[in-house]
Amino acid sequence: MTVLKAQGLGKIYSSKGNILTTALTDFDLEIEEGEFVGIMGPSGSGKTTLLHLLATIDRPSSGSVEINGVNPIGFDDKEISLFRRRQLGFVFQDFNLVQTLSIKENIILPLVMEGMAPEQIEQRLRPLAEKLQIAHLLHKRTYELSGGQMQRTAIARALIHKPSILLADELSGNLDSKSAKDVMDALQLMNEVDRATVLMVTHDPFAASYCKRVVFIRDGKMFMEIRRSSNRQAFFQQILDAQSVLGGNFNDVPFARN
Ligand SMILES: Nc1ncnc2c1ncn2[C@@H]1O[C@H](COP(=O)(O)OP(=O)(O)O)[C@@H](O)[C@H]1O
Ligand SMILES: [Mg+2]
Repeated sequence: MTVLKAQGLGKIYSSKGNILTTALTDFDLEIEEGEFVGIMGPSGSGKTTLLHLLATIDRPSSGSVEINGVNPIGFDDKEISLFRRRQLGFVFQDFNLVQTLSIKENIILPLVMEGMAPEQIEQRLRPLAEKLQIAHLLHKRTYELSGGQMQRTAIARALIHKPSILLADELSGNLDSKSAKDVMDALQLMNEVDRATVLMVTHDPFAASYCKRVVFIRDGKMFMEIRRSSNRQAFFQQILDAQSVLGGNFNDVPFARN
């Protein structure tokens, strides 16, 4: 089943002084249920623009986006935020957890907002927290957690309402290499065991090597696509090779690795 279908997507920004920037041109992307897809490209190539259009946060200048066969064009603000809340899960580079809530409260927030019964919430929470290895942290506050634990909490929150697709923007960008590995291992488990469909934007070849397919974008256009056929190490090398063909600066996000 096709979960996401983007056809002929284009985006032109107009800024002050009527300067027009073409950020995306005639971009097609189809994602099937259960896929794990990465988007890579140099700084300024249009990755964030693409993610915002797919997430229905911004409107395309041309083309269309369908999620589960529904194109939310024409929805009013209330309808679109409901659509987004039901269909999509988001994970960001800086976790976006609520500091005044416990880890458990952060994770279950989307279900509480839907008015789900507490017993039902508990049944959803337990297996998810266990798979993501944060079950022992549920009573803690965000400041007591490491970056990797916070990002796994954010993944739990993004998946607890069983969205059609999880959209992630540089989810490993603020993590050291050990935490990045833990987070990517956890995301892979959710993809393989729970068949969560994942689309992530990243400039990190290590994170991208967990994907089954990586789409490269340059100057707002589809440049090439590679699929993982064997092990992750071999795919990692394929990604590095593709990056060197692509050129440009990939280190567009300041991040620390130690
Ligand atoms: N809100 C905006 N207004 C004007 N230009 C923008 C805006 N957002 C992005 N751009 C431009 O669009 C192009 C693509 O940007 P972006 O999607 O952020 O690329 P990436 O995420 O790959 O670095 C760049 O040239 C950028 O300067
Ligand atoms: Mg960006």
